[in-house]
Amino acid sequence: MRPDKKILRELLSTEGKENLQALYNKAYDVKKQYVGTTVYLRGLIELSNICSKNCYYCGIRSGNKELTRYQISYEEAIAEAKLCLQMHYGSIVIQAGEREDRTWIEFITKLIKGIKELSEGKLGITLSLGEQKLEVYQQWFEAGAHRYLLRIETSNKELYRSLHPVNHSFEKRLKCLNLIQECGYQVGTGVMIGLPGQTIDDLANDILFFYDLDVDMLGMGPFIPHHNTPLKYLAESFSPLEALTMGLKMIAACRIALKDINIASTTALQALHSEGREMGLKAGANVLMPNITDTKYREGYQLYEGKPGLNETALQFQKQLEKRIFALGETIGYDEWGDSRHYQKKKN
Ligand code: 5AD
Ligand code: SF4
Repeated sequence: MRPDKKILRELLSTEGKENLQALYNKAYDVKKQYVGTTVYLRGLIELSNICSKNCYYCGIRSGNKELTRYQISYEEAIAEAKLCLQMHYGSIVIQAGEREDRTWIEFITKLIKGIKELSEGKLGITLSLGEQKLEVYQQWFEAGAHRYLLRIETSNKELYRSLHPVNHSFEKRLKCLNLIQECGYQVGTGVMIGLPGQTIDDLANDILFFYDLDVDMLGMGPFIPHHNTPLKYLAESFSPLEALTMGLKMIAACRIALKDINIASTTALQALHSEGREMGLKAGANVLMPNITDTKYREGYQLYEGKPGLNETALQFQKQLEKRIFALGETIGYDEWGDSRHYQKKKN
């Protein structure tokens, strides 16, 4: 049933410690009932910070000339995929800035095939590589990728326009989401929470947008101002606690409204609080994406201020992560793809 907008607005307007706790508890109950308490892990590789786009909020936008650009080599990427397999993470996410040139497209195709081969098909492959042509989405799907993440950023067209240069198009983004679905990928999208000018009504509409698109996965996080972007002026009035709370409320509302999809507890939450990602799991999220990128590249992938884990290797992180997840009373879905229940139901 399509969620009721009035109820969504009420959930998102929750205030006060006790009421918030009640909201998170309710979302946790829905999570337990519909997807259980197994956390699925996806090793995240930040393949390159080269981006042809210039989104006003993002630290790796093409207009940021202070940044040294990098691209991880094929061999290094394969080594990271091997590490992912050794750590028993069931799948890998390949993320990078947006590029549409042939060299890049072929590089990704080769990498997808290489990862499939080295893992004998065991490692699930998710792509987060922006807007592409149908043929490119198809080529990557045929090479072996099966999930694609493309955030809509906000479902409010006007707000989208205010956050992007004129040659970035909301309609194109939407069209791409449809193409990805058409190709047969499991589709993930998401929004930033706390954008300048964004209202509770917008966030409620975002949840209805997710429902109407029939998404399988969500990755959402609070907007965090970055010092080298046109939105840097927002840093002064930025409240990490408020941003964190709004992020958690959105996760909880999505879990309550959309029930059986996969929801990631994102790094942006952890940037705002050392236990932000655990809080996300407690508010209804069921997926974590540990960063497995070689630490020497991490400095280069600062989408927002204060991104955590700059010096922490993947192996150090894994030990801590296990402890933290077990402490929450949850288990880890090692060596599993962990497709969303929502997707499994659609398939059957
Ligand atoms: N704060 C939070 N999230 C951001 N992203 C980009 N810039 C920021 C920021 N300043 C997110 C966008 C994008 C994803 C790769 O990172 O949602 O889709
Ligand atoms: Fe590029 Fe994505 Fe950042 Fe926009 S949000 S500048 S597309 S990396």
